[in-house]
Amino acid sequence: MAEIIISTEIEGEPLDVGYLSVASSPNDEHGPRFHYDIDFVRRGYAIDPALPLDTSPYELRRLPLAVVDAMPDAWGELLLQAAERYDARDNGRDARQLTAAACLVAASDATRQGALRFRTEPEGPFLAGEVTIPSIIRLDGLRKAAEEVETNPDASQQAAQRLLESGASALGGARPKAAVIDDHGDLWLAKFSRLGDRHDVPLWEMVALDIAENAGLVVPERRLLTLGDHRALVVRRFDRTEEGRRRGYASLRTLMGPRELGGLRDYSDRGIGGRLRRQSIRAQEDLQRLWRQAALNLLINNTDNHLGNHGLLREAQGWILAPVFDLDPNPDRRTDFAIHYNGAANRSTGLRGLLSMATGLGIDDDRALGILDEVHQAVAEWDTLAHEHGAMNDEVSLFADTFTGLDEEVRRVVSPAHSAPVRSKARDSKARERSPGDQAQPRSVETAGHPARFHTRTLNQDQQPGGSPHCAPTVTPRE
Ligand SMILES: Nc1ncnc2c1ncn2[C@@H]1O[C@H](COP(=O)(O)OP(=O)(O)O)[C@@H](O)[C@H]1O
Ligand SMILES: [Mg+2]
Repeated sequence: MAEIIISTEIEGEPLDVGYLSVASSPNDEHGPRFHYDIDFVRRGYAIDPALPLDTSPYELRRLPLAVVDAMPDAWGELLLQAAERYDARDNGRDARQLTAAACLVAASDATRQGALRFRTEPEGPFLAGEVTIPSIIRLDGLRKAAEEVETNPDASQQAAQRLLESGASALGGARPKAAVIDDHGDLWLAKFSRLGDRHDVPLWEMVALDIAENAGLVVPERRLLTLGDHRALVVRRFDRTEEGRRRGYASLRTLMGPRELGGLRDYSDRGIGGRLRRQSIRAQEDLQRLWRQAALNLLINNTDNHLGNHGLLREAQGWILAPVFDLDPNPDRRTDFAIHYNGAANRSTGLRGLLSMATGLGIDDDRALGILDEVHQAVAEWDTLAHEHGAMNDEVSLFADTFTGLDEEVRRVVSPAHSAPVRSKARDSKARERSPGDQAQPRSVETAGHPARFHTRTLNQDQQPGGSPHCAPTVTPRE
């Protein structure tokens, strides 16, 4: 068994959370064990609803989901597993399948999600250290490295090394990504297009995030950068404070617990809404935000709205709903939503489900219709935003039904009394957000010493990449 010490900080003070024993070989059949540090029981908080603060040890069947939130997902695993194969080849040994414990401690500490940190020695260094997170001006090189690794991980040792040395290993999600810092040293997350993408995914995510902000949701600062024929979406990390401190994070997967324990994958009070009401320190506001986000996902057909794509942030007093991220409008209207609408899984029944669950979340009908109207008006700007971001005409046509398919149904339920005059928030946001560095071309990004400016204050189910390995899949369940 590998012994791992979990640490965090509370109001700037470092604290050990507890001690985790995990299998160090794939053949080890012992489940993980965890116990809180006694001091943390007095001064800390439950890092996972499945692990209430208590001094007695927990015998577990799998890694705590709160720990999984701080681990790499398919993309980071791909990089770490490739590194293991290079090392094995260089040293004339057989490559091993990395265990969950090995993946956990091999991922970059600097870029880890949330505020949990890991080490194997008391007072020892946090694992894994020694990365240099590149400046945003290196983004084109990182994108090319990511593409190379995705194309053939076994023939891209240098590219994988570059990404690992830049801290990409700890980033969650399945799409290729990298960590970068802006001129102030603040941490951002870069998302690239992916081999096999059928449309310009970063661009449409940017459009969707702009819509979300115009619809009244909290959305991180972001930029869409053009790198030659490709685009990258760069998003400010919301799990770091302005001073660069770590903010605790838990995905809704952690809030809901493992599927077999019955946590319903549904926005309603019977599922996520009910859990959020119990966990959030500002439940009324967060339930409205959840409903608003559910409405947005429905109207932009973001079917990849799974539990890992929603999260909570830790405040001093407790948990609140995290900003919106990973919005992926889906042009295929036959796909079911990962999280359901009061039992409704698809687009044709979603609106009825959405409206029927409002009361259960403490939102009266008038308010619900008002929110729906605001979201609908923001979505109506989709084509203006898409053109502003440089979408190709054929893609705009491809997405027309995605953004307008529910127009009539929504208009029927939102009476004129609720309908505010349409004001083009999108155009306002254009004036606010554009700056000359935004559409930086690759040469200016990487080589000509023209850093993309970041100091202007403005601002599915994830498929596995082909042949991606998993760190001990039996103990790191993903939604
Ligand atoms: N702005 C952000 N700040 C902090 N963490 C983020 C941010 N955006 C995404 N994440 C985290 O990174 C993970 C991967 O990002 P995501 O956008 O979901 O990528 P993918 O499209 O590969 O699923 C998310 O699950 C979330 O934990
Ligand atoms: Mg995701």
